[in-house]
Amino acid sequence: MTNDFFYDYLLYSDILIPFYLKSSEKNTSLFCFHFYLFFHKFMSFLANLNWRYAAKQFDPAKKVSEADLDKITEAIRLTPTSFGMQPYHFFIVTNQQKKEAIQAAAWNQPQVGTCSHLIVMCARNDLIAVKDEYFDAMSGGDSEVRAKLAGFEEMVTGFIPHASPEWAKKQVYIAQ
Ligand SMILES: Cc1cc2nc3c(=O)[nH]c(=O)nc-3n(C[C@H](O)[C@H](O)[C@H](O)COP(=O)(O)O)c2cc1C
Repeated sequence: MTNDFFYDYLLYSDILIPFYLKSSEKNTSLFCFHFYLFFHKFMSFLANLNWRYAAKQFDPAKKVSEADLDKITEAIRLTPTSFGMQPYHFFIVTNQQKKEAIQAAAWNQPQVGTCSHLIVMCARNDLIAVKDEYFDAMSGGDSEVRAKLAGFEEMVTGFIPHASPEWAKKQVYIAQ
């Protein structure tokens, strides 16, 4: 490869795209390339929003694959929330009797009992424990890292008395 060209790569979704571009046109080419990828991504996002709908009943014989379930749980795990605290637990219910019991408590909506996996999101009330778990996870148990986070931890601790159960429920809605 001569100096007239440069090599780089872009990580687009989970695909690595290597490319060679003319050095003299580096900035223009890169801008066009990024714009094309962004536009393509945005249009497919809109297309997916147009395609999707809230199913009211499922074929009980069809099951969501483990690979798809992994993607769904990963998406929940990565959901941004206030402070990043994610003050909720989620449970994946596959037991048919339990699904039917929850269906009865959910205005008897058939989709609750016929779905492959029912994900139940529960807001947490034990916010002090949530905060401790959060800072334990962020510091990885390293006291030096924890000390560096002290200012942030103090701010979050000061916020907790003001966080109503409604606050935790709103975080669940964001994750939904
Ligand atoms: C927070 C939230 C709660 C919802 N709860 C229910 C529900 O209990 N039962 C139901 O059939 N649909 C429920 N929906 C689906 C909406 O009714 C549905 O998204 C809306 O009517 C638009 O239809 P579409 O999603 O098929 O385009 C809920 C949607 C959201 C965002």
